[in-house]
This record gives sequence, C-alpha cells and structure tokens, in this order.
Amino acid sequence: MLRRLHPEQPESFAFTQANLAWAEGQISKYPEGRQASAVIPLLWRAQEQEGWLTQKAIETVADMLGMAYIRVLEVATFYFMFQLQPVGSVAHVQICGTTTCMICGAEDLMAVCKEKIAPKAHMVSDDGKFSWEEVECLGSCANAPMAQIGKDYYEDLTAERLAELLDELSAGKVPVPGPQNGRYASEPKGGPVVLTAHAEGRAPYNASVTLATDIGDTVKRIDGTEVPLRTPWRDRSHESGDAAPTPHAPKLSGGAPADETGIDKREAPVTSAGKPAEPVEGEENVGTRPEALEGPREGGADNLKLIKGVGPKLEELCNSLGFYHFDQIANWSADEVAWVDANLTGFKGRVTRDDWVSQAKVLAEGGETEFASRVKKGDVYDDD
Ligand code: FES
Repeated sequence: MLRRLHPEQPESFAFTQANLAWAEGQISKYPEGRQASAVIPLLWRAQEQEGWLTQKAIETVADMLGMAYIRVLEVATFYFMFQLQPVGSVAHVQICGTTTCMICGAEDLMAVCKEKIAPKAHMVSDDGKFSWEEVECLGSCANAPMAQIGKDYYEDLTAERLAELLDELSAGKVPVPGPQNGRYASEPKGGPVVLTAHAEGRAPYNASVTLATDIGDTVKRIDGTEVPLRTPWRDRSHESGDAAPTPHAPKLSGGAPADETGIDKREAPVTSAGKPAEPVEGEENVGTRPEALEGPREGGADNLKLIKGVGPKLEELCNSLGFYHFDQIANWSADEVAWVDANLTGFKGRVTRDDWVSQAKVLAEGGETEFASRVKKGDVYDDD
C-alpha cells in the first residue's frame, strides 16, 4: 500500500508541555550523537497526542533530533503503526486480515466496519468517532478473528459482537478487552484439558486483560498526564515539565550514587586524553572556552538558525553562552569546538555532527547554504 502524507495538513504542531518533557527524557536515554534513536518513541508520542502523524509533527520530531526531514518521513511511512491520515476521535479499529483471522471470519468483521464506520478503510465515520483499516497478523492468531481497538486486543470476535463493541465505544464505554466468547485466554474452546487445577481460584481475567482493565484507558489518547514518566535519572522537577530538562544529567548506579559526587564513574566527563577530567561547577571541563560576547553587536544577532542543526532552542542556548554571530562560530578552533560540544546541555556534540564551523564560514562571508535558503523561504521554521 502506498503510504503518503495526507493532502490536508494542519499548520502547526507542538508537543504539550508534559509530552515535551517526556520526549526530552526519551532523548536523554541515548549517548551523545545517537539522539536519532529516539525517533520512534517521539513519533509515537506525537501520534498519541494528535491521533495521527501530521507533516508538522514529523518535522518537529526531526528538528528535535537533528535529523533530516526525509529520514523521519522514511520511518513514518515505513511502519504501519503510524497513521498518516486523520483517524476517528474515539477509536481507530484495526482488523487483522491475515490467514488465521481471515479463515475465522475477518471478512465479516470488515463488513461490519464498512457498514458502521465507513465504506473504505482510512475513512473517518460521518460522526467523526471511528475509522478502520485491515492490518497484518497482530500475533493473536489463537484467538482469531480479532481486532486491535485503541491499545488493546478484542479477540474471538463475531460480527455481532464487534457491532456491539462499536456501539458501546460510541456511547463512551470502554468494553473489557480480551476474548469475547467467554474464553479465559487461548485454551481450547471447550475448556482446558490439561493444567485444569491451575484454572481454580484464578483471577477473573487473564493477565493481559487484568492489566488493561486496571489501566482502563484502552481508547484514551496519551496526553502526557500518565506520570510517572520513565526517565528516573532525571531531576523530578524536569519530569513535571516545570523546568528546562537536563537530558544528559548524571545516571545513578542502581538508584544509588557511585561515589560522593553522585556521578557514576562511567558518566564522568572525559578529556581528549581519555582520563576523567576535574569537573568545573556548571561547565564541562573539556577543550577551551571560546571568547564570548556579553550581547549581540550593534545591528543585532545573526540568525543562527540558518545553520543546519541549530533550532530555536539551540540558538537560545548559544546566545546564553555568548555566541551571537556567524563569524564567532566560523573562527572556533578544534579545542573550542570541543568545549562548545561538551557544554551544549541537551544537544552535546551538535557542533561537530552538523559541522557548524564550515556552515558559519559561508554565512559569515555573506554566502548562503542550501539549508539557509530553505530557512529563508520559510520551509523550515514557521517564524522565519
Ligand atoms: S492471523 Fe490474525 S492475529 Fe495472527
């Protein structure tokens, strides 16, 4: 199936404050220069927030990770879990159409979707509540036919039961997921024939369904309120989204500091000689700090966002470190680049990775890079 961006796109995308804090926590899981590894979690979060993946969301994620838009688009179009068009406001129903489910009645389920939701897959129902699609095997073949609705599986379905489920969801209810024909899990339909003693005194639902009912949010969209955010090495205030995150804050060893500094030795700053450096309060003690300005020169600061890899946040960070002009960056030595790379909290290594110095040289001499011309045309940032 051809997967393309939807022809109608919203004009902007922004993570909610809590989702942004969560996303920055995910980025902080990866070593310097490997932030692109967070692309799938971030795209998923963007989809959970909006319901589907918009072009602006894809671009926002690309900017956050310093990736080319095409690279993130490749990920978004490759994986079917990413919805590239609007979905129903209540639920997107994914009917498994692979062999076992097809033999056991998937076509009947899709007929229900066509009748109750929309005649074609990926169309939103008239009331805007539902959409549907056929997907490949979801790994629940022993409970065929089945559908994933929201985050959970509804198994052992019949056309009648699926129609009822849609009515319940439409009425604001969250039906209990799992087998819909009375089966406990994936035992024989006539009941278990082995391990029968195990069935006595068991919980009312199997483990998956128990967890789903405990959480109770099968069709709820993630909106960032699902604390705790799972980045425990970060300061708690960052997790609440109250303050700027410190993605590369020191990790603790098994919940306890490795030494009296609280820093795990593996996380200690390393000099070019490969030996731990003496930490300087507030700064990474690597390389040489370039000359900084107290403020921009007369005429104002240069638009550092014309440098590929420098987004609004990084520009702000550069300015806070006293760097406002292309010629400052163009003249950085290797030692100075090392210092800046080490002190771009949350964006370490970006100077080298995106070769700011070469770009700044072109811009300082009045030239224009291909990226800078895209920024000037407004193709990259909304506010340029
Ligand atoms: S064939 Fe449908 S879940 Fe595997």
